[in-house]
Amino acid sequence: MKLLVIANWKMNPLTEKEVKRLFTSIKKGLKGRKNIEIVICPPFPYLSIINNLLSSIKLGAQDCFWKDKGPYTGEVSPQMLENIGCKYVIVGHSERRETFKETDEMVNIKIKEILKAKLQPIFCIGETEEEKKAGKTFHVLEREIKKGLDKISKKEIEKVIIAYEPIWAIGTKKACEENEVMTVALFIKKLVSRLYNKKVASNIKIIYGGSVDSKNASDYLRESKMQGLLVGGASLNSKEFIKIIKSLNNIKTYLR
Ligand code: 13P
Repeated sequence: MKLLVIANWKMNPLTEKEVKRLFTSIKKGLKGRKNIEIVICPPFPYLSIINNLLSSIKLGAQDCFWKDKGPYTGEVSPQMLENIGCKYVIVGHSERRETFKETDEMVNIKIKEILKAKLQPIFCIGETEEEKKAGKTFHVLEREIKKGLDKISKKEIEKVIIAYEPIWAIGTKKACEENEVMTVALFIKKLVSRLYNKKVASNIKIIYGGSVDSKNASDYLRESKMQGLLVGGASLNSKEFIKIIKSLNNIKTYLR
């Protein structure tokens, strides 16, 4: 199983010129690296630009709608994304849940449609600071997983990547402790085992996101046994992003 490092550029950078500069510099810095699957998720208008510059780096989108096509102003379908070269789609990111009021039910429909389009969903879950303080972390994660994966078959779940992103750790430089991430990952595995079976739970990929940088990245793989990382802010700095990837060399221990 390859490690997975996903760059979520969110609504950045501002110009096409900056996009080309950032991507080209990441591509150059990571040339020849085959042991890690690297995915860049830029804003929609930049997907084709990056696809044309693509190397072994894979392309992902930050969201999608759940219909193929039609009168849905402003939306983008999974089929369109597949057609222009995407392999992954982030879904249920906390910024979409919070700002755009996306519900667990909407996330569930999106995951199903992403899978139908033969793309891999990066299914984000995570608790707020208040929920954590109130001791509700596992309760929230269980609800998000159960509803998000509702009626998704054993076969389909193989393609789903679960991204644990505690909301209080996103963009705050308050990264989650490695042992806490490990505890959450074990909880997710147990829950997936209950909902599906042991084999599914042992194969499902769980990644971590939230204030990841070149100093803590390898600890999430070594100590928390994550199978990958979802990187926000640090992926907008090519030197830092390259440093993150290089720090993960030769790590092969992850949770099964
Ligand atoms: P930061 O790495 O900036 O905390 O963002 C994490 C994130 O939201 C990735 O999806």
